[in-house]
Amino acid sequence: MILSARDIFKSYKDSDQVIEVLKGASLEVSSGDLICITGKSGCGKSTLLYILGLLDAPDKGELEIAGKMIDSRSNLAHEFRNRDLGFVFQFHYLIEDLTATDNVMLPQLILGKSEGAARKRAQELLDYLGLSHRLDRYPNQLSGGEQQRVSLARALANDPKLVLADEPTGNLDPAHSSEVWKMIRDLNKELDQSFVIVTHDHEAAMQANKVYELSEGVLRQDG
Ligand SMILES: Nc1ncnc2c1ncn2[C@@H]1O[C@H](COP(=O)(O)OP(=O)(O)OP(=O)(O)O)[C@@H](O)[C@H]1O
Ligand SMILES: [Mg+2]
Repeated sequence: MILSARDIFKSYKDSDQVIEVLKGASLEVSSGDLICITGKSGCGKSTLLYILGLLDAPDKGELEIAGKMIDSRSNLAHEFRNRDLGFVFQFHYLIEDLTATDNVMLPQLILGKSEGAARKRAQELLDYLGLSHRLDRYPNQLSGGEQQRVSLARALANDPKLVLADEPTGNLDPAHSSEVWKMIRDLNKELDQSFVIVTHDHEAAMQANKVYELSEGVLRQDG
């Protein structure tokens, strides 16, 4: 087991009212899982992914990672987030004044890898994702699909145990979307890379080994 979330609660205070978003959501992620989470807009998918990724703390509930209970605000959580988790954000957040290669190098340099090793790894990944001819482009010189693949490369840069992706194909046309899904599936099959992916795309979700729907603050497994 890579990660287990039990009975996660999260609410937001909005001026005078409290919005309860998560009301006891639970999820277990095992090594090699390709998990998809679907659900209506605004139901709390991004909120849940941020909590699973230790980027935000739940109000209540337990997170267990690699057999240890984790407080999202602790140093251990910080370490785990940098070393073992990769993120593909809903709005991809590539750094605009860094090239594709430099964007993929950055998380590696943060972990203390040498520049040479980080560059080599970045180029291998971008090559694997079909971007060897785009290494020195800046994000605004890349198509939406290319940017999304750079984001995926960045998420994979430190060989994370788990990649958390929030609508990684959200801005793509069907052709580019199926291209990115194929890469996700190949990474999962060939390299046993684990994923938790939020998506609206029910057809793509069919490729997952587990599919959940988030509704009324809890996760229910489909099928
Ligand atoms: N920082 C915040 N403060 C107040 N309310 C918030 C905050 N972040 C999210 N919300 C609210 O919490 C709910 C869940 O938001 P969230 O972004 O998790 O939804 P989502 O399922 O990812 O939606 P989408 O599919 O549109 O991306 C929404 O009603 C949203 O308006
Ligand atoms: Mg969202």
